[in-house]
Amino acid sequence: MSGKYYVTTPIYYVNDRPHIGHAYTTILADVLASFHRSLGDDTYFLTGTDEHGQKVENAAAKKGIPPLQHADETVVRFQELWKRLGITNDDFIRTTQERHIRVVQQVLQDLFDRGEIYKADYTGWYCVGDERYFTEKDLKEGKCPECGREVTPLKESNYFFRMSKYQQWLIDYIKSHPGFIQPAFRANETLGFLKQPLADLCISRPKSRLSWGIELPFDKDYVCYVWFDALINYISAVGYLKDDKEFARRWPASCQLIGKDILTTHSVYWPTMLKAMGVEMPKTIFAHGWWLTGNTKMSKSLGNVVNPMDMIDLVGVDAFRYFLMAEMTLGNDASFTREGLLRRYNSDLANDLGNFLSRVVKLTLRAGGVIPAPGESTGKEAEFDDAVAAAVGGMRSCLEEMKLDQGLAAVLAAVRAGNRYVERCAPWTMARNNDISHLNTVLYTAAANLRKLGVLLAPVMPGKMAELLKVLGGGDEKLTISDLTSGNFADPAGRQVLEAGILFPRIQDEEEPAGNPGAKPSGKAPAKAPEAPPAPAELVTIDQFAKIKLKTARVIEAARLEGADKLLKLKIDAGAGDIRPLVAGVAKYYTPEEILGKTIVIVSNLQPAVIRGAESRGMLLAAKFGKELRLVTVDGDCPPGAEIG
Ligand code: ME8
Ligand code: MG
Repeated sequence: MSGKYYVTTPIYYVNDRPHIGHAYTTILADVLASFHRSLGDDTYFLTGTDEHGQKVENAAAKKGIPPLQHADETVVRFQELWKRLGITNDDFIRTTQERHIRVVQQVLQDLFDRGEIYKADYTGWYCVGDERYFTEKDLKEGKCPECGREVTPLKESNYFFRMSKYQQWLIDYIKSHPGFIQPAFRANETLGFLKQPLADLCISRPKSRLSWGIELPFDKDYVCYVWFDALINYISAVGYLKDDKEFARRWPASCQLIGKDILTTHSVYWPTMLKAMGVEMPKTIFAHGWWLTGNTKMSKSLGNVVNPMDMIDLVGVDAFRYFLMAEMTLGNDASFTREGLLRRYNSDLANDLGNFLSRVVKLTLRAGGVIPAPGESTGKEAEFDDAVAAAVGGMRSCLEEMKLDQGLAAVLAAVRAGNRYVERCAPWTMARNNDISHLNTVLYTAAANLRKLGVLLAPVMPGKMAELLKVLGGGDEKLTISDLTSGNFADPAGRQVLEAGILFPRIQDEEEPAGNPGAKPSGKAPAKAPEAPPAPAELVTIDQFAKIKLKTARVIEAARLEGADKLLKLKIDAGAGDIRPLVAGVAKYYTPEEILGKTIVIVSNLQPAVIRGAESRGMLLAAKFGKELRLVTVDGDCPPGAEIG
């Protein structure tokens, strides 16, 4: 794919502090930029702030300070958040910067000189919130067609951009460039909007009414309409009218990310402005959906706006980025909840990915600490190798189709295939039986594939994946996705594995104490102990059997129990937030690393007990034969908490 890639975010208003929506678009741009860098593209990533206009003037007036001082104070919050989120933007443009103002004024003057901008009397309606003018017929039931708020009647002289003359051109352009506005249903939405006659765009505000803006170079009594000013940032930042070489290198933008709230300005105003300027269209304008709080729109008045800082404190930067990317299907709305975040964190990252890494590391350390060259095939590699290949290929195509959630799902599927592979191969048994050739194959395959998956996830979780790669042989800080397919992928055989901390420690939500139902301060009645069994009999009735609650559970922590050589102290996930301790007499047959991550079967309503000082709630099932013991597990993939019966 090696080529050039220029990605932009909207420039955010400095009237308010950044929230999760701003964080989302910026992280998405960062992930796209990082992927493209990893693919070897000449990548450029721009973000910034929109600092003129009524909203900012009002916010400053409320604080009793000049607008620029207000902007200076607020912009830092965005810049600090981007730093905290590991955002790798190449530039940060502020519309109050001289380099931007100069370009806007030159564009205005040129359009005015060429008759693309003209002065006229204006009568119509104005929405203060949206800072937009509407004609009588634009209004919906007398209110703003965009936000439904009251509009104010207005009569004044203003300057207009001849947008109407580009209407047919725009319709044709959108129809003949299917990738221009994405997703496709947003292109249709724009075409629907263009069925009505397009009015000329009022691009000025008399200073008597609003002074905080860029002065029109041809009339000192007016400032430029904030949207006309703001949209130009995408080209003023990359050398337009200043550095032709740089501009030719970056423009047209490959992907201009926006939220669906600003579709019209980007799919109608922006293309017609560019057309009038004689500048090439961006390749793609991509509108994503909303993050909702549960099912409701986030709004300051509802007080349900999610502060990204709180979420970073909860799960860490990388997991937060991962959640946002994995959870939203690009184009649609998605729901943000703390529970959803923790659920995905605990299942995808703590259980699947984190466990896989710690298993591979522990197994390799026990075998001497060096990733061996592969030995003889175990015959079981194919499924795992295929899943990894599918993830590598899938990530590329998902990137092109803007289906990041699917790309990540393919990577996680490969991680799970890896866990399955290790379980099916049982390298601990190979080690016991001195089956070194097969053991080497398993250790090599697991490490090499996990490194590839780490490279795939690095654009989303740069910090954690750097750690993963370092632990798993290191030496390839600069590994890229291109390396995965070009055969340059450095062979990890012979490299030292490092003792690793837990990459994604499990998080128990204190706001919602989980555990067994009996431990809950409120809610359901405590779990009842099964009634005393009936007098010994050969047969039980189905009702008697039904009293024993069997469930699947996943082992999420495992350790030897001090002073008891037969016992392992486990922590298990029995589904739906039911995390509990369990002591099992299997230490002679299973090491903690072996049992970690397994999906086992437990008697979940066994009376709790304290065994050698350790609490145990439930009992696991195992088959005993001769001197052997094997855990009862389920056939194939099964989430924890599934009822058995
Ligand atoms: O509109 N879910 O700035 P803005 C997802 N200055 N994304 C969200 C979101 C949510 N709930 N809320 C906000 C402006 N966003 C103009 C842009 S561009 C030349 C000028 C994101 O501060 C989304 O990207 O209101 C949306 O388009 C943007 O923030 C709006 O930011
Ligand atoms: Mg907004």
